Amino acid sequence: MKKRYYVLAAVILLVIVFWGIAGQRRGEGSAEEKKSIRIGVTLYRGDDSFINTIRGKIEEQAKEYEKETGIKVVMDIVDAKGNQNTQNSQVDRFISLGYDAICVNMVDRSMASNIISKAMDAGKPVVFFNREPVEEDMRRWEKLYYVGEDAKESAVLQGNILVEAYQKDPSSLDLNGDGKVSYVLLEGENSHQDSLIRTEWSIQTLKDGGVPLEKITGGIANWERSQASAWMEQWLAEYPEEIEVVICNNDDMALGAADALEREGLDRPVKIVGIDGTPQGLEGLKNGKIFGTVQCDSREYANVIFQIAAAEALGQEVGELVKLEREKYYECSQKTLTAQ
Ligand code: BGC
Repeated sequence: MKKRYYVLAAVILLVIVFWGIAGQRRGEGSAEEKKSIRIGVTLYRGDDSFINTIRGKIEEQAKEYEKETGIKVVMDIVDAKGNQNTQNSQVDRFISLGYDAICVNMVDRSMASNIISKAMDAGKPVVFFNREPVEEDMRRWEKLYYVGEDAKESAVLQGNILVEAYQKDPSSLDLNGDGKVSYVLLEGENSHQDSLIRTEWSIQTLKDGGVPLEKITGGIANWERSQASAWMEQWLAEYPEEIEVVICNNDDMALGAADALEREGLDRPVKIVGIDGTPQGLEGLKNGKIFGTVQCDSREYANVIFQIAAAEALGQEVGELVKLEREKYYECSQKTLTAQ
């Protein structure tokens, strides 16, 4: 009699165990059944114009996705305010809350390894964007992605805006007719991959395009309008007659240079070029403050960040939805915009 009970108990136990395992499998494989996903996004600085534009577009993407798929998206976007420790804690919080995917705009792009280790331990995919971790870090895991722009392409397009203007009419850049185009340069953060490459290739493109260049001076304005404006004010005081062109690594710095020119009340048509095509940049283009810019498609940029995160959250094959390079990189498309 006792033996029978044991057998029965063993059978019941087995049924429970198998049901449990099968249940777990059903859960794992239920990409289509998942009705909501949770994504955490941390920004290096929420007050950066370009990043702020991308943030708005990511939010739009999430809403569109909800409408199209019926899958609820819980999105938590936080600002690290330029502090890497704050950002690390934000990622810890995302992980402890069990978010499905994490999007990181690194404060310090050389410090990604800490975040990567924690994400790997927790099995949480990470989509980095705009501030690119070093390749060695990116190679550590197949669930690490990077979305950005080709910095050389931005720079070549920017340089070509000026090459074309010069070819059409040299005196539009060589304002004093001394046979040289005298420029000043405003650069982004020196640790940012985009700053160095944009500077190098913008100048190289002008040289290759046959523009006779002369550098007056340059400075690092860390992508910021106010810092750029302060540099420009100083240079206008030092070189009141010489500056003909202002080459800027982004639109905010181009606008800062324009602010200083406006304050000075200079009547020389100094040409200022930027990169980004932010709403503020486009406004500057429209009212003649900026001569040209290079716009990345911010909708595409945000769409790709979101699509990768959502696909990973649902356990879908990312490569089937987004065309990636080396299985983890995406470069957003860009175009030039000029005042004329
Ligand atoms: C953009 C800048 C921005 C910076 C932030 C660059 O790619 O052109 O406008 O401030 O990224 O990381």
